Amino acid sequence: MRRRDIAINASTPLITRRRVLTSAAAFAGHTLVCSRPSFAATKQSSRIDVSGRNALRTHAAAKHLFFGAAVNPKALREDEDYARLLRQQCSMLVAENCMKWKAIEPQQGQFQFDDADFILAFAEKYKLKMRGHTLIWHDALPAWVEAGMTSSNARQWMIAHIQNICERYNGRIHSWDVVNEAIRPEDGRPDGLRNNIWLRTMGPEYIETAFRTARAADPAALLTYNDWGLEDESPQNEERRRIVLTMMRRLRQRNVPIDAIGIQAHLNLPNPAGYGAGLQRFLASLKELDLQVFITELDADDHRLPDNMELRDAEVAKAFGQFLDIVLPGPAVTAVLTWGLTSRYTWLRDRDHNSTPRGLPFDDNLEPTAGFNAIRDAFDRRRIQPAVPKPITLLRPGQSWR
Ligand code: XIL
Repeated sequence: MRRRDIAINASTPLITRRRVLTSAAAFAGHTLVCSRPSFAATKQSSRIDVSGRNALRTHAAAKHLFFGAAVNPKALREDEDYARLLRQQCSMLVAENCMKWKAIEPQQGQFQFDDADFILAFAEKYKLKMRGHTLIWHDALPAWVEAGMTSSNARQWMIAHIQNICERYNGRIHSWDVVNEAIRPEDGRPDGLRNNIWLRTMGPEYIETAFRTARAADPAALLTYNDWGLEDESPQNEERRRIVLTMMRRLRQRNVPIDAIGIQAHLNLPNPAGYGAGLQRFLASLKELDLQVFITELDADDHRLPDNMELRDAEVAKAFGQFLDIVLPGPAVTAVLTWGLTSRYTWLRDRDHNSTPRGLPFDDNLEPTAGFNAIRDAFDRRRIQPAVPKPITLLRPGQSWR
């Protein structure tokens, strides 16, 4: 099967996509289904039932985890099958883009809450938790911020932005990504911080200002530092973990309110470095700092792999399994979210115009992928440590109860 025969992307008519997928399914030895892919048809043609006790959210809950995914609000409004799949599989949602600065405050003081409100209303209707993503980031800033921010207004603009959003959603957000992607060793600073617009206008203290403002505006939300490149055993990732840990220790020393780390987990394939001891040590150190860990943006970019769907599926499943087997034993891990639930709507499409990405739990046709199985099986393998009751009275050496 040559999946390069037809390039498909989000704008390709469904019926064309279906034809490509049908040939892909034939390649993988699946049953061919030629009807228009309504959810009912999808369900019937599935070889495995992924609803109810078989859903990712159920497997996750059995191991004290939330499972969730990043959501595209346009698709949530327009694609019923997608909406149904989200509530079937997820116990937590996060907005992929619509809570970013550019989307939510495109003009100074003029907030666009419609999409975020819509996703949150959906989450609340179906009793799903909601993560907030993201308050302070160097990316996705509107032109008015990029062009007009100076050392004299930056602090005030930051505080106003965070207060407006956190106060609006006060008490309704499980966790906020307060600061996103603040490190960049290549920028050459001894503290490893990224030389971004916040650092240039406010100095390194911008990070703690963001956290303190968020805590005051929404005391119930778990406040998170979120970043990428913390996953594999390459020297670059090890260096990034070291920088993040130093930053976390410093924030703790300064009593900055921070509750969690978000490990994005955009896995790149192939990944010769693999996942292992460095990541384990990182998790142990985060536990010592009493920080929760969320896997916030799991997906696998398979576009560098050969154009062979079986091979890609096997590699995605292997990467998900190996990575999750390292992180899930850590008792501090409380949530796993994929960046998109289905390759029908994913940013991975932007990387690869020649074939459909396989690195999410569901494919274009909302059928479970090998990645789905890998995530489910990794959840099942998680051992939950029994809670050890705290001793009420401590015996001194030599002392006995009698
Ligand atoms: C990505 C979105 O998925 C894209 O649709 C958008 O064009 C760019 O941003 N790290 C993050 C996410 O924290 O916000 C990014 O999301 C992916 C990398």
